[in-house]
Amino acid sequence: MIKAIRGTRDLLPPDTDLWNRVEAKVRDVFARYNFHEIRTPIFEDTQLFARGVGEETDIVTKEMFTWMDARRYSEKELIFEWIAIHSPSAFAQVEKKLFFDLVAEVDGRTNVVEFMSGVPNDSSWRGAVGRLRSAKAIWQQAEPNTEARLVVPSSKRSSTLRKPTEHLGIIYEEIELKDYEEPHSLTLRPENTAGVVRAYIEHGLDKRGTLQKLYYIGPQFRRERPQKGRYRQFYQIGAEIIGPPSAGSDSPILDAELLEMLAALLNEVGLRGWTLQLNSVGCSDDRARYNQALRSALEPVVATMCADCQRRAETNPLRVLDCKVPEDQPIIEKLPKIGEYLDEPCRVHFQVMRAMLDAVGVPYIINERMVRGLDYYTRTTFEFTHGDLGAQSAVLGGGRYDGLSESLDGPKAPGIGFAIGEDRLILALQAEGVTADADLDAYITPLGAGMNAHALKLARELRRAGVSADLGDETFRLKKSFEAAEKAGARFIVIVGENEVKSGEFAVKELASGTQENVARDRLAEFLRHSQ
Ligand code: HAM
Repeated sequence: MIKAIRGTRDLLPPDTDLWNRVEAKVRDVFARYNFHEIRTPIFEDTQLFARGVGEETDIVTKEMFTWMDARRYSEKELIFEWIAIHSPSAFAQVEKKLFFDLVAEVDGRTNVVEFMSGVPNDSSWRGAVGRLRSAKAIWQQAEPNTEARLVVPSSKRSSTLRKPTEHLGIIYEEIELKDYEEPHSLTLRPENTAGVVRAYIEHGLDKRGTLQKLYYIGPQFRRERPQKGRYRQFYQIGAEIIGPPSAGSDSPILDAELLEMLAALLNEVGLRGWTLQLNSVGCSDDRARYNQALRSALEPVVATMCADCQRRAETNPLRVLDCKVPEDQPIIEKLPKIGEYLDEPCRVHFQVMRAMLDAVGVPYIINERMVRGLDYYTRTTFEFTHGDLGAQSAVLGGGRYDGLSESLDGPKAPGIGFAIGEDRLILALQAEGVTADADLDAYITPLGAGMNAHALKLARELRRAGVSADLGDETFRLKKSFEAAEKAGARFIVIVGENEVKSGEFAVKELASGTQENVARDRLAEFLRHSQ
């Protein structure tokens, strides 16, 4: 049996009803805050994430789904092209089990030829060279003058590989193919901020001169170790505010507005037990000074810490703050705090933003140890956590990224945004007992031979009038119809028998209470609609 890939999952009803309800509510909130939807591609140039998210991050070094994408050339195309170039005086295509593709006379000498049409990599190279050398040795027993030849389409990629040299006794040949497409490294998006900023730059959205308030809902992909709340394909609901500084894109009012919106949004979807954790990571100069301070503070103690901390102290001391090993905590608590290293403008930005949050009454705690896993952040960073989520407690994360556009060769465009992990939001809601209400108004059950058409006609009338309805079948006994109606979550069952059709009055029974009454056809939709 073929199963879904590890770390991916099928979302099924009734869970999908809750997903849809959340998404509808979120779109409604976004509209009230003047956000508009952006949809960017699910895969992008690998370079976008390497430069945008950061070469040294876990996401880029370990977690991306990346592949070399190239038009697949059939070996036949390559062979025909080669034959056209060399016009060998005689040739024969040889069966694959003899390790190579073709034997041909070139300039009076026998050649065994292997063609490689795919994207070459080091191991496919080694394989081809090995096969050719054996083939040549065998063929030489009959024809001592036999040459071996490896033919590949010429590309930037093949020019970076080590060539089989003359001393391996192989002639290496690159041929130009018509319509050749250079293989390209592509990646399934691990997050959406880099894609949004790319689109902002590519479409010159800065020329509009206003703040762009953009939101997205969609799948993201990270090759993480799957566990509850952590998947390899997961869904984010995110938003970004980005624009030229002249439009106020670096103002702390945006940070406060975004956080106020998030508090309202979580409340409106029905989530209660959340905590907003806030920090400021300053600008890149502040971080350089802070990293230096951490390095010096860690130097005398790092040897007693866990292996991860020892490595991080070298590569990226900020990450030491992420360590969860209990024995290391007393040391980490005593390390310098980022707040002491913020320059004046960053300090003021944070202070002013906090004052606005206090003014609108959004509660938060300051967590100076919160280090986000992406490199683009500047100044404000935040996470909303939820107690019912266990180890994967962050329902959402985000922050400012004032230099991201420039690092992707775009104009100066400060921005701030967040992404909610929708899978985690749903888990947290379910842990709090929130479900999507079953909203099937009626189950219409034809009773007796020939009644299906009447039931279908009635269902059509009712559905057109805004009633949600499902249908039974005339072959069902009444008991089975009642069971089916209950399973379908219907509030009412409507019986369509010969008498009812004739009289124009239908027996309607409320399943929960068992009360039954006869309702006239023209009053039926109003009676059933949305199960008043
Ligand atoms: P992030 O913190 O990497 O930030 O992800 C945001 C949220 O996505 C997390 O808080 C979590 O709820 C969810 N999430 C991340 N990885 C997984 C996973 N493997 N399985 C399930 N849920 C996951 C970003 O992605 C930034 N782009 C947010 C942002 C937008 N910053 C500024 N603008």
